[in-house]
Amino acid sequence: MMMADALKPPEIVTPVRTLAALREKIADLRAGGGKIGFVPTMGALHEGHLALVREARRLSDKVVVSIFVNPLQFAPTEDLDRYPRTEAADIALLQEVGCDLVYLPTREILYPQGFVSRIELGGPALGLETEFRPQFFSGVATVVMKLFNQVRPDIAVFGEKDYQQLAVIRAMARDFDMDITVVGHPTVREADGLALSSRNSYLSAEERVIAPKLQQALLRVREAALAGEDTRRAIDDAGIDLIETGFDKIDYIALRDADSLSEITPDTKASRILAAVWLGKTRLIDNIAV
Ligand code: PAJ
Repeated sequence: MMMADALKPPEIVTPVRTLAALREKIADLRAGGGKIGFVPTMGALHEGHLALVREARRLSDKVVVSIFVNPLQFAPTEDLDRYPRTEAADIALLQEVGCDLVYLPTREILYPQGFVSRIELGGPALGLETEFRPQFFSGVATVVMKLFNQVRPDIAVFGEKDYQQLAVIRAMARDFDMDITVVGHPTVREADGLALSSRNSYLSAEERVIAPKLQQALLRVREAALAGEDTRRAIDDAGIDLIETGFDKIDYIALRDADSLSEITPDTKASRILAAVWLGKTRLIDNIAV
């Protein structure tokens, strides 16, 4: 596309709510001949999401953002009903940061009566989150595959905040020959280190003070790993410290191969520390590179 187009924000973000309208708008965007970038979200947008939208703008000519709280990735006991929904504010933020199309499909559009299929996953989808949320990645992959098929982007941007999810989507795009470049973007954090998340709004004032200790615990495990110390012990100590500072439960803290997410082997080139912990009723996840 022309440079001038890339520099000035698009005039008006058009919210689109039907598949027919999406297809028509996408055809318009494609008519320009440039690349389409896509950022799928569940809304309650924050700076982390907006960073992905800016990255998509940088890498492509037209940017599509979807907002859909995907019931398939929530277990019956999870927070589907109370998940924050801030549609008007989300659209205003997207308008500000600049995107060409906001897709807000309904549940009926994505899962009409008679919808029965699910994506089955392996590799990076095994372990970690899956041990605690067995259907989660199948739900994520199914909706992302559907959104990919509907939007048909050239590039899709995902956050490293959800590192295992990023690995799962990369594997899916590769294994199903999707011809979409999956781009990862570093985690955006608050000044005190807490990773931005739509779920941070669940935290009480006291919990909000404790929450940044999660990243600090991961940083201590990294120091131990880099110093050649026993990482299993460092991970156990980090878990004990977190419980002592007020966290309620550790789902996992793990050091893994950064590419495969399997256990570290002599072939591991880069590793990653990943964690999921409970603070009151809120489940926080975070991860850092070693
Ligand atoms: P959601 O949690 O809304 O996140 C949408 C995208 O924003 C994901 O790629 C996520 O990794 C990224 N993101 C969230 N917080 C971030 C942060 N602090 N820094 C950088 N990126 C961040 O992830 C989902 O929605 C859903 O599972 C979805 C992929 C949309 C499928 O339903």
